[in-house]
Amino acid sequence: MPKESDLTIDAQTIVNQILPHRLPAQESAEAFAPANIALCKYWGKRNEALKLPLTGSLSVSLGQLGTRMRISLDDRDRLSINGTPQLAESNAYKRLFAFLDLFRVSGTAFRVESHNSIPMAAGLASSASAFAATVNTLNQLYGWDLGDSQRSILSRLGSGSASRSICPGFVEWQAGERPDGMDSTAVALESVWPEFRVGILTLSAAEKPVGSSEGMQRTLETSMLFQSWPNQVAKDLPVIREAVLQKDFKSLGPAAEQNAMAMHATMIAAWPPIIYWQPESVATLRRVHGLRADGVEVFATMDAGPNVKLLFEAKTENDLRQAFPDLKVISPFAD
Ligand code: DP6
Repeated sequence: MPKESDLTIDAQTIVNQILPHRLPAQESAEAFAPANIALCKYWGKRNEALKLPLTGSLSVSLGQLGTRMRISLDDRDRLSINGTPQLAESNAYKRLFAFLDLFRVSGTAFRVESHNSIPMAAGLASSASAFAATVNTLNQLYGWDLGDSQRSILSRLGSGSASRSICPGFVEWQAGERPDGMDSTAVALESVWPEFRVGILTLSAAEKPVGSSEGMQRTLETSMLFQSWPNQVAKDLPVIREAVLQKDFKSLGPAAEQNAMAMHATMIAAWPPIIYWQPESVATLRRVHGLRADGVEVFATMDAGPNVKLLFEAKTENDLRQAFPDLKVISPFAD
């Protein structure tokens, strides 16, 4: 039996399946996609080419924080991020245009203007909103009229976590089982929780030393602790899903923090070890634990970078603004 990753379904095959007919493009289109923070993390793929995950994951989209993108037809490819032109040799340019190659009709060139309201490559999931915004903008440009699950699948081909940036609010990315990943798609959860807050502490906006794709692959290949990761998700995902549906912060907070710590444990045990934490990250985690000991209901989560994100409810916001004067507070359900 060939391993699933050896099967020859590639990203182009999936794109052609979802978009069998190429439509003429408009001159230009614009769209937005939110950033998202995972409460139950995605770490490890069952198929690299299609970015199919080993487990499900669950996130909250960050409202108006994310990527606004304009794509226009042009005589050659160009990318600007927050108004700054990017060199063709830059990682962002290469990654984005490799993705756009999946969709362009030959001879088409694109001018892409991307505006991020989040620091790039600092574990704040800017690639997720960028790829989802790309798909949303192409959907307008070409008038594809695709639904959430198709846009989720296409976004995933750019970056796994982008599959969740398709919907606002709480979103679950179902791992799926099919080799072509047509069942590996995000679904919006029916939960509106206006009091839910995410606090962002940007401890360092520096580029991360190991990208998440490489990090998760190295963890899968070299970390003995990774064997326990699917079981961790099997325990946490139902608890987090139910807590989100019931708006039960007392269940959500501990499960989300433990899930994030367990993910980092798997990567610290990889070789060479992957340690995204900086001294400030550890100091912040300790402060969170201290605040909890004093009765403040706050929990932490971290992704592939040094920054710590706080999870709390509106009633705790003042205490946390005092404890962390630089805290950027996000209300995912505000207009
Ligand atoms: C730690 O989606 O960036 O943020 O699919 O390889 O592009 P690729 O990885 P990416 O990984 C995100 C990992 C994470 C956890 C999460 O967002 O669930």
